[in-house]
Amino acid sequence: MSIQDYRAFHRRSIEDKEGFWAEQARMIYWHKDFERVLDFSRPPFAKWFLGGETNLCHNAVDRHLEDRAEQNALVYVSTETGEQKSYTYRELYGEVNTFAASLKELGVGRGDRVVIYMPMMVEAIFAMLACVRLGAIHSVVFGGFAAENLAKRIDDAKPKVMVTANAGVRGGRVIPYRPLVDEAMEATGHPPETVVICRREVDAEMPQAAGRGMDYADLRRKHEGEEVPVEWVESSEPSYILYTSGTTGTPKGVQRDTGGHAVALTSSMKHVFASNPGETMFTASDIGWVVGHSYIVYAPLMYGMASIVYEGLPIRPDPGIWWRIVQDHGVNIMFTSPTAIRALRRQDPEYMTKYDTSTLRNLFLAGEPLDEPTSRWAAESLGTSVRDNYWQTETGWPILSSMLPGLEDEPVVAGSAGYPVYGYDVRLMHEVTGEEVPAGERGIVAIKAPLPPGCMSTIWGDDERFVQTYFSDFPDPEMYSTFDWGVKDERDGRYYIMGRSDDVINVSGHRLGTREIEEAISDHPEVAEAAAVGVKDEYKGQVVLAYVVPKDGGKVETDAGRAELEQSVKDIVDRKVGAIARPASVYFVEALPKTRSGKLLRRSIQALAESRDPGDLSTLEDPGTLDSVRATGPVRK
Ligand code: PRX
Repeated sequence: MSIQDYRAFHRRSIEDKEGFWAEQARMIYWHKDFERVLDFSRPPFAKWFLGGETNLCHNAVDRHLEDRAEQNALVYVSTETGEQKSYTYRELYGEVNTFAASLKELGVGRGDRVVIYMPMMVEAIFAMLACVRLGAIHSVVFGGFAAENLAKRIDDAKPKVMVTANAGVRGGRVIPYRPLVDEAMEATGHPPETVVICRREVDAEMPQAAGRGMDYADLRRKHEGEEVPVEWVESSEPSYILYTSGTTGTPKGVQRDTGGHAVALTSSMKHVFASNPGETMFTASDIGWVVGHSYIVYAPLMYGMASIVYEGLPIRPDPGIWWRIVQDHGVNIMFTSPTAIRALRRQDPEYMTKYDTSTLRNLFLAGEPLDEPTSRWAAESLGTSVRDNYWQTETGWPILSSMLPGLEDEPVVAGSAGYPVYGYDVRLMHEVTGEEVPAGERGIVAIKAPLPPGCMSTIWGDDERFVQTYFSDFPDPEMYSTFDWGVKDERDGRYYIMGRSDDVINVSGHRLGTREIEEAISDHPEVAEAAAVGVKDEYKGQVVLAYVVPKDGGKVETDAGRAELEQSVKDIVDRKVGAIARPASVYFVEALPKTRSGKLLRRSIQALAESRDPGDLSTLEDPGTLDSVRATGPVRK
């Protein structure tokens, strides 16, 4: 295979979409075959595998009982609680059915939403699979999000049931869920009818959930051994909603279909992740993020692999923990974020070679720009190939990849996210004119619709917002914007991703919206106004800085007053958004730089904070405001 084979493979996926995807579709089980491969009669909305009936849970679990019932499906390792447990496909089938029977008793059926707000416990995965088994739509909310964030998502998804736990554990510290869940139940206008609580063996009280709580242990006891028939759903019926941040303060519910999702993810295991059924994949992420949905849960299971589910930090009990897992479980494919690797790079390098990691063929990294030194360091110290891949919650699977059929033997160029993945017609558009830019020039990464199978079908409950958000930046109404800057190398066609063009911050691979953070800070009684920007950080990719205009300027004149307000601003972000969004520093300014029409100039603030030129300031209303930002001094960490 050569790069020509890659080009031919990719070209066919664009020029003969229907033929190409009809073939890929054979990788999954269809209860009823589809009638048409693609319906693009209402652009930019694309429907894949029309008329086909399938079920994600059947493909991920039941289907494998024939050939691999005794093979491991999930291997759970928690270095937080010390728990370690494996589930064969047969055992997974049992657990998922029990969970499905429990949800069914609570009235959950086809089309109903179930919010899953949980730490990395296997029960979260049982719950996800149980939902799709019943034709219900899950919406997993990252277990580190604060109550208010959870409440916002409940308001939008209007779930019949919520599944949660009594606690998360991070870095050995127990994080009780009771205050979070109870506060969210009070804050939401649509409390779920029942809250199922999975109890773990840590010292934390069960949430009260406004009297709607049920202990999952009781449900499990009652329904153990029951089997629940799979609900066959039409290919375009939603399988899940996953909320993600954008430029506004209101998170967007990314809606995924069923058939396209199953086909895209299953085929990606073969073509993008170059793996085989029966092998072991270790994706170190969280089920609350898209990487977890796709590559801890659905893709490896649908493809018949064993998936390692890890709860804990990469450096605890020591920085060798992941490689010990690789050795002990014979991991073949690993997937994590560049931040995690940067964290390991700060540790004793001996840990990288202490264990036998010879089973590991490829380490895949995604979620944020992968810098060359990190990429090289990981490849050299592990003796494995490191493969960058670029994608988004919206797409659900890679857009660009350095591993594809035909690229196996191409040299990996550190710093490049690789080539367009089959199915993606990738373009680069001029930010102002919206026309395509030639290779070698920087542009906004765009995808010509129809988006391939597996990508979001719409924003939950808001088709118009879907079109407005993603398809209105360029003159071509069928051009999807990723909001990322990119450039294509003139000589070899490789792509380089250079960060977001909008107000999304990426901290350690976690996607955060500036507006969400600003709204939280502005709720502080002593704050008049706030700006949140993401600035470069050596380890986390970016960190959040907050520029705050206090109501009483006098208060921040003393060190003590400033320290107190800074702490309480950080606290309010913790409380309303979650600790991952907490500003690294809070600066107090007299006013924020704005345009004459009142638009906050976040990019100029960011440029100053990164010691760069603040750019075109002709629209700036009051130049003095920038001086005030400048005067905040060098960035403190
Ligand atoms: O800015 C890009 C960055 O992460 C964003 C998507 O984040 P999220 O929705 O959380 O999905 C993560 C899925 C892996 C993108 O818009 N991003 C993701 N991968 C890369 C990246 N930036 C540079 N290089 C990457 N490989």
